[in-house]
Amino acid sequence: MAKVLITGGAGFIGSNLAHALVDENDITIVDNLSMGKKENIADIDVHFCEHDVCDTKFMHQLLSENNFDYIYYLAAVSSVADSVARPLETHRVNQESVIDILEYIRLKKLPIKRFLFTSSAAVYGNLPDFPKKETSHVQPLTPYAVDKYASERFTIDYGRLYGLPTVAVRFFNVYGPRQNPDSPYSGVLSIITKCMKNNQIFTLYGDGSQTRDFVYVGDVVRALIKVATDTNEPTVYNVADGGETPLIDVIHSYEDISGKRLKIEFKETRNGDITKSKADISKLRGIGFKPKWTLREGLKQYWAYNLTI
Ligand code: UD1
Repeated sequence: MAKVLITGGAGFIGSNLAHALVDENDITIVDNLSMGKKENIADIDVHFCEHDVCDTKFMHQLLSENNFDYIYYLAAVSSVADSVARPLETHRVNQESVIDILEYIRLKKLPIKRFLFTSSAAVYGNLPDFPKKETSHVQPLTPYAVDKYASERFTIDYGRLYGLPTVAVRFFNVYGPRQNPDSPYSGVLSIITKCMKNNQIFTLYGDGSQTRDFVYVGDVVRALIKVATDTNEPTVYNVADGGETPLIDVIHSYEDISGKRLKIEFKETRNGDITKSKADISKLRGIGFKPKWTLREGLKQYWAYNLTI
């Protein structure tokens, strides 16, 4: 049984990862519950520590008392808007806490098998290269993107310079069960789900023609485990579906699946909104990963989950 640490493990992606790993692994979760929820992990047997990853004293003690095999680093302030409003505080979470852990692992020569950092498609910014490859130019336009990019590079450099077993991924638009819809900057599908369920009006910024590479969280979890366990290089992988769908088409499919009509109010495009997004996932496919969930199947599963809660 491997010992696994998931920071941000009570959050959306982290809790789905914990559910997937719990039967065969000994899992510790560190989460300050800023976005995560205890209910997300209430039904699984894990060691839960309600702590901030910026509490370095606590994190060092946790690492020295446990010989973790795998560390999945998902803790972050994931709101881009929050990073614009509070750049220094979010920097501490999104960058400093990551370097601190890497440095502790290096100095104490902790015998980890893999440290996986989760970065974001935000690092690509608004450049025209299309679809986005890991080698495409980056343009981190916000403190969130700058920190994700820097932490990703630190993670890779700790592998290249000091031989730590590190790797990183860049998430595209992840959706599915346990995504928190409570901020205006939450993932659009979590907001749409909430509006559909409660017959609320959904504000669509733009005309709905903006495209995104939506990837179901079940596939994201499979990709994370594969990258952490089946690769060796300190490098970065796009984690996405590789498809591209206009937002309005997603809404229509979802209406079809749920049998509900979404009430839409159209508003001006959001400042800085990206018009087109799609990942090239050939690098991920190159390690044997294939997405299993079509958008339709993913939406069906997500809607079915929402009817149970
Ligand atoms: C996503 C990430 C963001 C990252 C960016 C980089 C999420 C939640 N956000 O933003 O961290 O910087 O990729 O590529 O994964 N929309 C509406 N109404 C709403 C909410 C959203 O119309 O109430 C629209 C947005 O304007 C956007 C689309 O839906 O055009 C998707 O929005 P969102 O889910 O926030 O994701 P990204 O903008 O792609």
